[in-house]
Amino acid sequence: MDEFIFQNPTRIYFGPSHEAEIGHIVAQHGKRVLLHFGGASAERSGLLPLIRKELSAAGIEFFELGGVKPNPRLSLVYKGIELCRQHKLDLVLAVGGGSVIDSAKAIAAGARYSGDVWDFYTGKTLPETALAVGTVLTIPAAGSESSPGSVITKEEGLLKRAVNADCLFPRFSILNPKRCFTLPRQQVANGITDIMCHLMERYFTNSKPVEFTDRLIEATLKTVISSAPRVLANPNSYDDWAELMWAGTVAHNNLLNTGRVGDWASHDIEHELSAIYDIAHGAGLAIVTPAWMKYTLKHDLARFAQYAVRVWGVEDNFFDPERTALEGIARLEAFWSSIGQKVRLSGLGIGGDRLAEMARKCTDGDTHTVGHFVPLTSKDIEAIYRLAL
Ligand code: NZQ
Ligand code: ZN
Repeated sequence: MDEFIFQNPTRIYFGPSHEAEIGHIVAQHGKRVLLHFGGASAERSGLLPLIRKELSAAGIEFFELGGVKPNPRLSLVYKGIELCRQHKLDLVLAVGGGSVIDSAKAIAAGARYSGDVWDFYTGKTLPETALAVGTVLTIPAAGSESSPGSVITKEEGLLKRAVNADCLFPRFSILNPKRCFTLPRQQVANGITDIMCHLMERYFTNSKPVEFTDRLIEATLKTVISSAPRVLANPNSYDDWAELMWAGTVAHNNLLNTGRVGDWASHDIEHELSAIYDIAHGAGLAIVTPAWMKYTLKHDLARFAQYAVRVWGVEDNFFDPERTALEGIARLEAFWSSIGQKVRLSGLGIGGDRLAEMARKCTDGDTHTVGHFVPLTSKDIEAIYRLAL
């Protein structure tokens, strides 16, 4: 097990009762708030009206900025920064999914920075301070509700880039599984896929031995795999959503990568797809991850075979671990297909014309490799896209 420092400072309020306390919760961290949200879903569900009422009742002054799109855009972040400066706001309250939360984090860091907030996403510098961020999560997926990450797309050049910094951990996140009841099926599938990928990115590691965290990741994956068909069959099943929502947070709050180095190539390879084709992150991962697995399989057949046996219940073929490993990947593809994902680029109508361009962008023009389990060059990445066609 590798050395590590672990701290996750986000306070989680889990369950239906906490929304009504939001005025009180926010007041512990700020007095002047930017209420940030996406399209119409939180308005329609009654969540936003409730939050407005509770903030007003707690005497909190707030300004609103809606319109965050999936794959959140830099231009709206600039607007949010402007609003925070103009009205001297001290907390950004994100109501929605990963896109709204990531946009809120960008605004919070940008408001405290004299340069261009995009500097954080190019790696020019890291944010050292940010306004407080709080979240009310409406979709289990990205894990941004307790992660130090934010992913933003710059429209010019279609660049989707991430930053990770301690000051971006939300101060608090409110998770009410009942809010998931209104999710469209495809968003449910995207969320499930992303959660599973956060677990698998951590699973495929060169750190060893890591038995304890292996087992935690396997247990979390199995919980997601068993809850997924139940929430799809019965969208009002509180208990199954509760399992999925908490699993989604724990999958990405860094507990499960203690003592190990995760891979993360599939995420970077996917971000190029969602940047150019504006597809959902989870939908892109369902295509990229199996291709990445097939490409890197031989690097550690024993680990892939362990994954197949422990997560998918594949019978171990002691004489042919590659066969065991391949069966694990086939089961993953079959599972994602069963929840409505496409597992090939062609399924989303994406052809092979921009593969080399995406591979080059992913390595910032061949200036670095991607991934830790197997460091990939742009040639490797292009081959992975090709396997995914
Ligand atoms: O905009 P509204 O109307 O709210 O609709 C949203 C949106 O269209 C809808 N939705 C959310 N909650 C709903 C709902 N519809 C009905 N009922 C509800 N309760 O779902 C759609 C997708 O929302 P989005 O926030 O985009 O989804 P998700 O949480 O999957 O976030 C995806 C973004 O997070 C990034 C991804 O790259 C992508 O940009 N990620 C962020 C990470 C992080 N910060 O740590 C890590 C992840 O790996 C990921 O890269
Ligand atoms: Zn993800």
